[in-house]
Amino acid sequence: MIKVLSVFGTRPEAIKMCPLVKELEKEEKIKSVVCVTGQHREMLDSVLNIFGVKPDYDLSIMKENQTLFDVTISILDKIKQVLIKEKPDLVLVHGDTSTAFVTALSCFYERIPVAHVEAGLRTYDIYSPYPEEFNRQAITLISTLNFAPTEVAKSQLLKEGRKNIYVTGNTSIDALKYTVDSDYSSDITEWVQDSKLIVLTAHRRENIGTPMENMFKAIKSITEEFLDVKVVYPIHMNPKVRDIAKRILGDNPNVRIIEPLDVSDFHNLLNKSYIILTDSGGIQEEAPSLGKPVLVMRDTTERPEGVQAGTLKLVGTEFENIYNSFKQLLTDKIEYNRMSSTANPYGDGTASKQIVNAILDYFEGEKNYEN
Ligand code: UD1
Ligand code: UDP
Repeated sequence: MIKVLSVFGTRPEAIKMCPLVKELEKEEKIKSVVCVTGQHREMLDSVLNIFGVKPDYDLSIMKENQTLFDVTISILDKIKQVLIKEKPDLVLVHGDTSTAFVTALSCFYERIPVAHVEAGLRTYDIYSPYPEEFNRQAITLISTLNFAPTEVAKSQLLKEGRKNIYVTGNTSIDALKYTVDSDYSSDITEWVQDSKLIVLTAHRRENIGTPMENMFKAIKSITEEFLDVKVVYPIHMNPKVRDIAKRILGDNPNVRIIEPLDVSDFHNLLNKSYIILTDSGGIQEEAPSLGKPVLVMRDTTERPEGVQAGTLKLVGTEFENIYNSFKQLLTDKIEYNRMSSTANPYGDGTASKQIVNAILDYFEGEKNYEN
């Protein structure tokens, strides 16, 4: 029996790892063990509930307003016991969070092989996104198996001299198969009626402060000018984000700031939206496959495939550019149609199955898997 330990802790990791955990559980040659760090609490639990995944370990590390030091120290301190007790043959980490980085580091200390899901995304600016770009580059150094979502990600890993790279697509597309229902309606869709539904999310650490204020001010101006626009903002639980949003968007009748939605409701809301404004990573992968235009309120993106497909437009974090791009998308039908075509740069929804096959190949195949 091959023992595979999957470790994750935040909402986006959970959304992208749960379909893979489900697939690992189906494979009789694999014993799947799940450890959540609890870097997020409510936002993590909501995803676990939707997918029916019950973790074997929960490190429960989240604190309000936690710093990078808090998260790093708590996970490092607690994960060691899990690794020593379980002695997994392979540990799966996802993406670029502190949970993923610290887990990979701990595996390195214990000399346990790491497989990196969503490997090879890069901006090559370690301060953007911060600290995620550093985290993912560091995880790459430690990983034995690299599951790249796209050929672009693979080529970046090859340039860095990495081996054992599998292009699998992104497991977020697998997740959409569980959630999207074309007949979906909710109190939010009732509220929007025939207006244009704009879905907004913003949470990035490096945007907290002036960049986030700029975003919200630009959106406020547009809602005052275009009365057929209704903005729904399922807000991240970070108190710093909440303060800024409430201050700038709080009293606006055409903006609804609501609690985070469970992933099923959120994917369906995206599917009903007219335009998406976000600084999120995962939403940049989901939107092309739903054919929804996204204004990415960041200075860099590690998802060039979506930009190339035409669905994503990088609009930065200055008021002027966000306002102008938003206005253009509302008034220029040709531009809107150009950005609304469905594209599939992140795979066909079979990434989890491909990853499980690659893991079996690693343990049972003839290949030499030096790091
Ligand atoms: C983390 C990840 C980021 C990812 C994001 C997804 C790192 C360094 N950052 O950033 O890559 O894009 O998650 O959302 O790993 N909180 C709650 N309940 C929750 C979740 C968060 O109250 O369920 C609050 C807490 O006060 C917490 C704060 O949000 O201290 C920030 O959470 P944290 O995980 O440190 O950072 P994120 O900005 O969420
Ligand atoms: N998401 C969700 N509920 C919400 C907002 C987002 O389930 O209220 C999902 C979204 O579909 C995507 C993921 O959360 O799959 C993105 O997470 P987040 O923006 O927190 O992190 P990032 O992707 O930027 O790391």
